Amino acid sequence: MSTFDLTRTLPEDATDAALRADVLHGLTRSPKTLPPKWFYDARGSELFDEITTLPEYYPTRAEREILIARAPEIAAATGARTLVELGSGSSDKTRHLLDAFAALTTYVPVDVSESALRGAARTLLAERPTLAVHALVADFTAALALPATPGPRLVAFLGGTIGNLLPVERAAFLASVRALLSPGDFFLLGTDLVKDEATLVAAYDDAAGVTAAFDKNVLSVVNRELGADFDLDAFDHVARWNASQEWIEMRLRSSAAQTVKIPALDLAVDFTAGEELRTEVSAKFRRDGVRDELALAGLDLAHWWTDEAGRFALSLSTAA
Ligand code: SAH
Ligand code: AVI
Repeated sequence: MSTFDLTRTLPEDATDAALRADVLHGLTRSPKTLPPKWFYDARGSELFDEITTLPEYYPTRAEREILIARAPEIAAATGARTLVELGSGSSDKTRHLLDAFAALTTYVPVDVSESALRGAARTLLAERPTLAVHALVADFTAALALPATPGPRLVAFLGGTIGNLLPVERAAFLASVRALLSPGDFFLLGTDLVKDEATLVAAYDDAAGVTAAFDKNVLSVVNRELGADFDLDAFDHVARWNASQEWIEMRLRSSAAQTVKIPALDLAVDFTAGEELRTEVSAKFRRDGVRDELALAGLDLAHWWTDEAGRFALSLSTAA
């Protein structure tokens, strides 16, 4: 018999308070910014899933290739009985791990999107009648309280989502992952790799305009949750490679001078014509950089695998 439970580790009003704080902070500073976690309401989660099927968006296919090739090795190296997945989304690639892990009994997906968690659990449980799924609605950048589940545990953070954290946030995040690990536990990390600018920019500015809709969805979230009057047609999606930081920046460029009202914050925000609001960074990595960042957090890189074309990497590390 499969079991499913879902725990909200955030207080009822935490999301509302955090969104208000982020919008107030991000839109009253220069340059303006919004954190990427607010993309992922039900519509944003759907748009992200659509992005993963686009011809230009290679990371999902590349990571899936590695998972299919290496899942048996990962299972053998870790012997995990519990898989904890941070930012699990649709859990679609996770099935390659679950299929290879004979000893695994328990799956703990962690995401801010409750709709994504419920949808993923429905699909997984229909296919795997003996799996126990303990879903957590939680912010993975805050301290996580995981349920007591059988060890050893494999904590996975796939998709390259670590690249959506700023360097200082990444360091804090990796330290908190290290704190979750007991002796014998492992950390599996997906990182997108530095490559030519044209490939990277196309992946974040697709011809069908799905990434543009995903980018603008954050404005819909602020409109709905805080009563703002962002006109989505008055902003253009921009994807730009920042070569010195080695990250893609997604921005929304105001096509004209305009004032946006946000009644819930009692705020009016002026945009000049051409002014850009940064909505996401997506950092790209190199092996040595990943090894060093893991080491700084007390994690030892044990394995490094890439897809055939060398576009994406999965690394497996242990507590030092
Ligand atoms: N791991 C999946 C999904 C990646 S999309 C894959 O590889 O395809 C990023 C996911 O992280 C989304 O489901 C989003 O809701 C979640 N997310 C983003 N920021 C988060 C945060 N701060 N805390 C928890 N989940 C977050
Ligand atoms: C979730 N994350 C890894 C995606 C990325 O590639 O940085 C989010 C995304 N943004 C635009 N397209 C996809």
